[in-house]
Amino acid sequence: MKTSAKTHTRRPTVRFDPTDPALIADPHTAFAHLRSTTPFVWSQAGFWIATRHEDVRSVIIDRKNFGQGDFTRNIQLYYGDDFDVFAHSSYRWLSEVFVYQDPPRHTRIRGLVSKALTAKRVREMRPDIEAITHRLLDRFADRREMELIHDFAYRLPTLVMCHMLGIDEQEADDLLLDQLNQAIADSFLVLEMRPLNGDELALANRQIDFLEAFFQSIFERRRAQPRDDLATALLDAREGDSQLTEREMVTVAIALFGAGFETTAHMIGNGILTLSQNPEQWTKLVSYPDMATSATEEILRYESSLIATYRTAFNDVEVGGQRIKAGERVLALLAAGNRDPGVFPQPDVFDISRQGAHHLAFGGGIHFCVGAELARLEGDVAFRALAERLPNLRTDTSKPLWRPGFMFRGLEQLNISW
Ligand code: HEM
Repeated sequence: MKTSAKTHTRRPTVRFDPTDPALIADPHTAFAHLRSTTPFVWSQAGFWIATRHEDVRSVIIDRKNFGQGDFTRNIQLYYGDDFDVFAHSSYRWLSEVFVYQDPPRHTRIRGLVSKALTAKRVREMRPDIEAITHRLLDRFADRREMELIHDFAYRLPTLVMCHMLGIDEQEADDLLLDQLNQAIADSFLVLEMRPLNGDELALANRQIDFLEAFFQSIFERRRAQPRDDLATALLDAREGDSQLTEREMVTVAIALFGAGFETTAHMIGNGILTLSQNPEQWTKLVSYPDMATSATEEILRYESSLIATYRTAFNDVEVGGQRIKAGERVLALLAAGNRDPGVFPQPDVFDISRQGAHHLAFGGGIHFCVGAELARLEGDVAFRALAERLPNLRTDTSKPLWRPGFMFRGLEQLNISW
């Protein structure tokens, strides 16, 4: 990223290109540079960028001055005023996801979803998550090698979400699960802070149509034959309250399913890569598998799988020494805040026994990750099981193959053997 003090707005401005392969390979160096030179800065892409822990946090928790704002305007910022946002099913879907809504719409749906994901309910899922984890590892016990990302990291949270939504093997076999994973990855491209090209947008639209049809059929089956699962609970909530429409219900299911596995899968992949790059930390975890809990937190901090979120200013407001005008957007770099030396001593050191300040990997404020407890539990179970069962795990860490998107930081593949 280059900084220049001279711009038409007379604001210090950086060039920000979320598709730059160098940025995707190593965002942390670029973030550290921004944080130490221009921590709250306007970018030529038309939005602010926040990198300091304090600024990122104040933007995401300040519900009076920041929120999601006008969805159409937010998307037209990338494409221009003529872009027909709602002609695209992927953006129509996104506009209806509660994370992109402000109160009171956000409050209603979030309340419903958080009831299904209370800390107690999630804790009760531990035996099921352990059973799924060990079943997955059993499949590869004799082979002594696997491609971690697809064989394990994606599979585990996908099967956990299926378990929650009550989707069994009859409703989604391995092949269909692969298709659902791919559909989420392709359609979640609409979360990127940039215009998609024609092919990407057409693909995102097709994949959202596919996901909507899949979840509609699940709800139809639950309506005919209710079960004790999240899909039936969503259906009951809808029928008990006319405001939750059929579309909203399908939208929530896709959002939960997608948010539930894409970030968690990358947490597992990023975790194993980082532990392999820091073999003394892996040895520590192998010796003390109970450290899986603190290792999960450190992995979330050190190699956050959701790099950023964004907010729109409702009012003219001052943050990080800059005046933000009402309507302007801020890219809040969670991953940059998580390596802020003012908050985390030696932030570039990966230490699974690190204690102290809270990371921002799950966001904050009214949109704080509703699945945080579940993700933490999945991390705890997965890293513990891997350390206990594959203590001699080896992988080539020389050239990690990062997936192309900016917002989700995760690996395309990671071959491991033991
Ligand atoms: C390592 C795993 C995960 C990470 C890093 C992560 C990260 C985040 C972050 C940063 C936010 C806040 C977004 C914002 O403020 O704009 C968020 C929100 C959300 N997350 Fe997660 N998440 C993870 C796992 C999960 C899981 C397992 C689920 C579902 C079961 C989930 C569902 C959601 C939902 C529905 C929201 C929106 C909440 C709202 O707007 O009120 N996430 N997540």
